Amino acid sequence: RVPGLVDRFGRTATDLRVSLTDRCNLRCTYCMPAEGLPTLPRDAVMTREEIARLVGVATRDLGVRQVRFTGGEPLLRADLVDVVADVAALPARPEISLTTNAVGLDHRARALKDAGLDRVNISLDTLDPDTFARLARRPFLERTLAGIEAAAAVFDVVKVNAVLVRGLNLDHAADLLTWCLDRGFELRFIEQMPLDADHAWDRAAMVTAAEVREQLGGRFALAPDEEPRDGAPAERFVVRPRAGGDPLGRVGIIASVTEPFCDDCRRTRLTAEGGVRSCLFAHTETDLLGPLRAGADDEALATLWRTAMWGKAAGHGMTAAGFVQPARTMSAIGG
Ligand code: GTP
Ligand code: 5AD
Ligand code: SF4
Repeated sequence: RVPGLVDRFGRTATDLRVSLTDRCNLRCTYCMPAEGLPTLPRDAVMTREEIARLVGVATRDLGVRQVRFTGGEPLLRADLVDVVADVAALPARPEISLTTNAVGLDHRARALKDAGLDRVNISLDTLDPDTFARLARRPFLERTLAGIEAAAAVFDVVKVNAVLVRGLNLDHAADLLTWCLDRGFELRFIEQMPLDADHAWDRAAMVTAAEVREQLGGRFALAPDEEPRDGAPAERFVVRPRAGGDPLGRVGIIASVTEPFCDDCRRTRLTAEGGVRSCLFAHTETDLLGPLRAGADDEALATLWRTAMWGKAAGHGMTAAGFVQPARTMSAIGG
């Protein structure tokens, strides 16, 4: 059996995150600038066929077992349902998931499910329309909620992602958790990372995992989950009412900055332009789309991918002196 995507530190990547577009219909402050970013020319972005080819190499030759589609906003691709169907038809079918802002998901949730999508993670930072419009710089709370409702009707697992920003939605955390628990969604709070376009990230201003636990502690009691973490970014907790009683559900905290999980990282990434990124914070990418278009065979593509992952750094070094933020923003990497 050929070796998978191993690195010098003994980690093996089995989770692939594929960015399908660098475009987005929101402008969240922690990700994109108000005016947007220059977008890639259409022919620089992987086609449906090219995505299926590269994901096929990953699943058949490189041991990848889970594929997550991200963006930008993946729903902005008109062919998203076909992209999912192609990957679901691969001989070594991976688990297929989607990370989305859910704007427009109401029209496509059923078709995506039928095409083979297994589950969705949806970004929602607040339930207050004004705060939503300030954070996302677009007044689309209702459209997001419509997308979430449609997703809940067809998918067994819906997770919700929230980034808390001081002075904006920090004190909405417990309300958001109540809302998610009532609907059976697993909410995850994400520490903000230095991947914003404005380079305005400030370690001291960032809402930490410890603060999130403190906020939630006003209403709930959290106990560590017994289930193994299995390399997941989120540390999970069982939630009970503060006064005690039966569990209400679970909550996750993704503490990329204060409690990094790089030692157990299992992720590899493809950019919308078909480049391998070994880490969110990598400064180099290995182009696969150019060689693919020039006629490279699967074995050659697999070798390029392996070499790219072998060079993966031990960790992000976000809080180390001399840390340099990657040139790409979250919107272009896909989280
Ligand atoms: P599941 O656990 O499989 O549901 O997915 P996920 O949590 O990995 O995926 P999702 O796209 O919902 O990611 C949630 C957040 O986790 C992202 O916004 C990132 O902030 C963070 N994240 C995902 N992968 C990484 C990673 O490799 N490194 C770091 N530091 N953060 C990551
Ligand atoms: N830090 C942490 N998470 C971020 N996201 C976007 N930008 C950042 C950032 N700078 C989150 C979104 C979405 C996920 C894919 O990434 O909220 O849920
Ligand atoms: Fe993996 Fe890099 Fe994320 Fe750390 S920052 S968990 S090494 S992708």
